Amino acid sequence: MKSAVGSLLFLFMLSCNGGDDNKNEGISNIKDLKTRQYAIQGQQLYLQYCSNCHQEDGTGLNRLIPPLKNADYMLVDVNRSLYIIKNGLNGSILVNNVEYNQPMPENSKLSPIEIAQIATYIYNVWGNEYGLITPEKVKEALSTAP
Ligand code: HEC
Repeated sequence: MKSAVGSLLFLFMLSCNGGDDNKNEGISNIKDLKTRQYAIQGQQLYLQYCSNCHQEDGTGLNRLIPPLKNADYMLVDVNRSLYIIKNGLNGSILVNNVEYNQPMPENSKLSPIEIAQIATYIYNVWGNEYGLITPEKVKEALSTAP
């Protein structure tokens, strides 16, 4: 009897965990309306400008393209990411203890609002919950090199 209850409880916990894996991954989980609106625009821009390399799910590509999902490098410094989105990046970097050293091209045509939308997207999906990134914050980040 006891063990039957135990295995039922175990199954219940398993199914809850299964659900949690998919939680907080996407835009629909963003509660703040403005943040969600930015993320919706940002996702379109991400698909246009970023997903070729970093992939739609943000997992990157082997040792060539670093991940954005669960990437320690990105989470450490938001301003640096804003700067990279605009200006690209050259040279060796470590992301989750893996070395990457391929050039990322600049996106000189992206406006502060577009960069804010892309950043709001990548910082509020895949388990991230940073909140809104404003064009003002982007302008500030771009005015000082990291
Ligand atoms: C042509 C491929 C390519 C495109 C397109 C591209 N990136 Fe990258 N990205 C890279 C590479 C390669 C690196 C690593 C650069 C290095 O090693 O110096 C990188 C690094 C990064 C980093 C810092 C490392 C990390 O994993 O946190 C961020 C953040 C980033 N890219 C975001 C973006 C965003 C957002 C876009 C779209 C606006 C984008 N990238 C478009 C190839 C690309």
